[in-house]
Amino acid sequence: MTVAEPTTDAADNSFRRMDESSAEQWAHIGRCTALNQPRVADRILMLLQSLADVRDGFLTDQLTHSLQTATMAERAGADEEMVFASLCHDIGKAISVPNHGAISAEIIKPYVREDVYLTILNHQDFQGRHYYHHFGASRDLRDQFRGESWFALCEEFADDWDQQAFDPDYDTLPLEHFEPLVRKITAAVSSGAGGTQRTDY
Ligand SMILES: [Fe+2]
Ligand SMILES: [Fe+2]
Repeated sequence: MTVAEPTTDAADNSFRRMDESSAEQWAHIGRCTALNQPRVADRILMLLQSLADVRDGFLTDQLTHSLQTATMAERAGADEEMVFASLCHDIGKAISVPNHGAISAEIIKPYVREDVYLTILNHQDFQGRHYYHHFGASRDLRDQFRGESWFALCEEFADDWDQQAFDPDYDTLPLEHFEPLVRKITAAVSSGAGGTQRTDY
């Protein structure tokens, strides 16, 4: 017996209401969704590319900043998930600067371990050390996280890479350099921060 390959087409007998669905229909949707998983990398790369249009008064555009942060992480010997996270840490700015840390963290959450997710989620509170005094805000917001497992990682990310990555003369690696990593990391969900959420449809 030949088993048909799953396709991305809707099944002819698929439901019109979720409360009328069957396990077989969900199995088909699950196979289609898995086949289309490479779309995640495509969309992340598309969002990163869109940051080339986001400058907002900075010396570098946000794509350059993102690439430079990831380049610094890679050259410092960061592991692959952390290089990926460094590349994507401000990807939320493609949609909204306000709340961009949380937007970015939630996008990468299914693909990284929890410490990496929490580093990106809270990175602005660590960045504040370097400029929040100009807004009359506390530079010590990171202190609330002392003792957390990811504290040192977030300090290294913010202090050594993120806050230093606004130099147009730095030897920044191009997006093409990181594309294989983006595709590798997003090929499957992580057992870390995102868990195996097989019911999110
Ligand atoms: Fe940020
Ligand atoms: Fe940043």
